Amino acid sequence: MAMGVRLRYLPGVSSVDATAPRLIPPGVTPPDRSLPYFHALWKLIDNPIEAWPRAVYEDPFYQRRDERQTFLYACDPAMLKDILLDKAEAFPKDWMFERVTRPALGDGLLTAHGEAWRWQRRAAAPGFRPDNVAAMTPVISAAADAALARWRDLGEGARLDVSTEMTAITFQVILDTMLSGGDGIDVPSAARRITDYLETLGGITVADLLRWPTWTRVALAPRGHRALVALKATVGAMVARRRREPPRGDLVDLLMQAQDPETGRRMDDVLLRDNLLTFIGAGHETTALALTWSLFLLGLDPATAERVRDEVTEVAGDASLTHAHVERLVFTRQVVQEAMRLYPSLPLMSRMCAEDVEAGGLRVAKGTFVFIPIYAIHRHRRLWRDPDAFDPARFGPEESVGRHRFAYLPFGGGPRVCIGQAFALIEAVAILATLVRGAWLEPDPGHRIRPVMRVSMRPQGGLPMTLRLR
Ligand code: HEM
Repeated sequence: MAMGVRLRYLPGVSSVDATAPRLIPPGVTPPDRSLPYFHALWKLIDNPIEAWPRAVYEDPFYQRRDERQTFLYACDPAMLKDILLDKAEAFPKDWMFERVTRPALGDGLLTAHGEAWRWQRRAAAPGFRPDNVAAMTPVISAAADAALARWRDLGEGARLDVSTEMTAITFQVILDTMLSGGDGIDVPSAARRITDYLETLGGITVADLLRWPTWTRVALAPRGHRALVALKATVGAMVARRRREPPRGDLVDLLMQAQDPETGRRMDDVLLRDNLLTFIGAGHETTALALTWSLFLLGLDPATAERVRDEVTEVAGDASLTHAHVERLVFTRQVVQEAMRLYPSLPLMSRMCAEDVEAGGLRVAKGTFVFIPIYAIHRHRRLWRDPDAFDPARFGPEESVGRHRFAYLPFGGGPRVCIGQAFALIEAVAILATLVRGAWLEPDPGHRIRPVMRVSMRPQGGLPMTLRLR
């Protein structure tokens, strides 16, 4: 550990009540030390989080060097604050992130830098203002009600893949809220293409690890490439239609009308398409996973599920949820927050250090590859009481006081923090509450849950559960 770097212990972190019953859901068992080179290389493709050594969960930071590069895993909240907020200019997104995301998302909001990023962020921001998000809640509730009605049709004892179910709901929500229904985008086929793309080209591939030319990524994954071409064509056709039609007041219009105040530039069709793909991609799978993991945890913990159900019934009775209801679902929200702590939809962010700089007391050399291992930060031995246990109470008012803002990063932090975080939380709470009020999902004892990272963190092989209706 470098001089000057101190991990701040949070109040009550070391106190675990050994007598209280605890639910420890499945997670990753870290290796005691860094894996040998070829094993680590394989893990990068198979499941990168399984390569992070125990030190990442125990120390303020962990550094590793190979012949070409220094890698820093930053876990100390003060260091993270420097990297993501106070000195964010010195830590831009890295070349590997660009190499993987740019072919799909071009120079849109997620990938752009500097001024090109700033004006796009300003253009999209009004779409995520609290009043706009509040106005979208009935649309979200309607999608949740429709899903529950479909489950009722399937009947008691039906087997569901919860992960697929949640993706279908959140995909419909993003189209209905941000894209005025998506103009005929076919949800099942678009969702299948997104999955095809994410499974093959969405993350780091062999070609990236070996630094082969970028065209080799595509050559090695024709299925993913075909899916991406089809998705771009679908969204591109929607852009062309919307240009000809009167405005509808949705995110598409906001982006179409936006103008860069510095240059006077507007979004051309390609940039508009790339941004819409960004919002579709970033805006549904992440929330679907937060819901998937929440339902998994509630399946393991019927008493907590019952508490959620009691809360929803007390707040809303049998009514479809309104924004005012959702704001009062305090415990349900804590369940979602705790699920995103144990299983963050995005378990890793990365940056590149662009100049010699100090972060949280550590000198970081220009060229260092910086990992922000959200999954490990959320289970860090010095930041969380009983870190591997499922306990929504830790997000109650008492325990939240004094928690460092950068100890909990499901949505990132600093200027590049998720633009959709308020929307996502409202969406997840409204959907979870609606589903839990009407149904109980029983875990499949024969299905082993292994969290795997494919950019996002998903249960390998899906999440089969059995439907019990209330
Ligand atoms: C539970 C759900 C979600 C999670 C866990 C999540 C997580 C994140 C994280 C960690 C980042 C930061 C990435 C980085 O700095 O490297 C991010 C950025 C972003 N997210 Fe989300 N997100 C969620 C939902 C959404 C939704 C609903 C939308 C839009 C409808 C959205 C759109 C975006 C965009 C456009 C960015 C890039 C922002 C920028 O760079 O200015 N996300 N998200």
